[in-house]
Amino acid sequence: MVSIGKLARTLLLLAFCMGLATPPLVRAQDESSHIGGMTGRASVGKELFKRYCFGCHNLSGDGNGMEAQWIDPKPRDFTAAVFKCRSTPTGTLPTDDDLFNAITRGFDTTFMPQWRSLPPQQRADLVAYIKTFSPRWKTEKPGTPITIPPETPITTDSILRGRQLFQKMECWKCHGPEGHGDGPSASTLTDNKDRPIRPYDFSTGTRFKCGATNRDLYQIFMTGLDGTPMPSFGDQLKPEEAWDLVHFLRTLQVSLKTPELAMFRQWESAHAGQLKPIGPDQGTGGGGK
Ligand code: HEC
Ligand code: HEC
Repeated sequence: MVSIGKLARTLLLLAFCMGLATPPLVRAQDESSHIGGMTGRASVGKELFKRYCFGCHNLSGDGNGMEAQWIDPKPRDFTAAVFKCRSTPTGTLPTDDDLFNAITRGFDTTFMPQWRSLPPQQRADLVAYIKTFSPRWKTEKPGTPITIPPETPITTDSILRGRQLFQKMECWKCHGPEGHGDGPSASTLTDNKDRPIRPYDFSTGTRFKCGATNRDLYQIFMTGLDGTPMPSFGDQLKPEEAWDLVHFLRTLQVSLKTPELAMFRQWESAHAGQLKPIGPDQGTGGGGK
């Protein structure tokens, strides 16, 4: 005869096991992403991931896929949930849109392809699945995207103020006085996995990893590239200063012949020798005008 006590214990045990067993099952189905009007499903994303992404990012999402050994920079480790391209402040999780855009856009100058060939719904499913690799997505919410006010007019004054900020914020220490990625600190930099990493070389004119527009550029240095030495300047720059800096950075993209560069060259030819070169000799006092 089964005693009441034993029955109760058995039932309890059963309930306990079900309790343990149920959450992952439920979670696997519920994990979703929201991009525009689309809802991405992790269960669908998983199959796509196994088809297109695991060779680099690995089935476990840790970035050590078969191809990873040949690749520099290395594929992202999704178990850490640290992402470069975010609309959200440094240290916070990106939004679903941020991940969606990164997948769509791909990372120029790296092996991360663009995935425009996949229908948007599939990219949304992949976003949902990527968020299953780290427990951070269960305990934290994505950061609140930074506000980007309308762009200020592109003027010589704005460019010159931006040049002063490039000096004062010491961007040149990594990116070099001319933006060639060859500043005094450049050769010493490592990422969050202790791997050597180079600052961006503006003169090549290659697209930024996190976008191509002036708004993207604004967002890049106001949120930082987490996991790399590229810091966030969101706490140090006012919005109008950030736009000045954007305008100056465009003059460093010498192979693109940007309107900012044309404007700056014209000013320089009329004011020959008036600008002190950017670099250590100037201190952090100002860009010299
Ligand atoms: C050929 C290798 C390769 C394949 C295939 C690949 N990736 Fe990547 N991926 C990379 C590399 C390399 C990086 C890191 C680039 C960097 O840090 O500059 C990356 C970065 C990322 C990031 C990080 C974005 C950020 O802001 O930090 C996401 C998300 C991503 N990949 C998603 C995917 C998805 C989804 C797929 C499949 C549809 C995929 N990748 C396929 C190589 C690959
Ligand atoms: C401590 C070194 C360091 C300093 C200081 C620094 N950067 Fe960077 N920056 C980097 C590194 C390293 C990268 C490349 C990151 C990568 O490729 O993942 C980078 C990348 C960038 C990029 C390209 C981002 C992309 O999406 O590809 C821009 C734009 C940029 N930095 C602007 C600036 C500006 C503006 C300043 C000063 C306000 C600045 N950086 C200061 C190290 C630095």
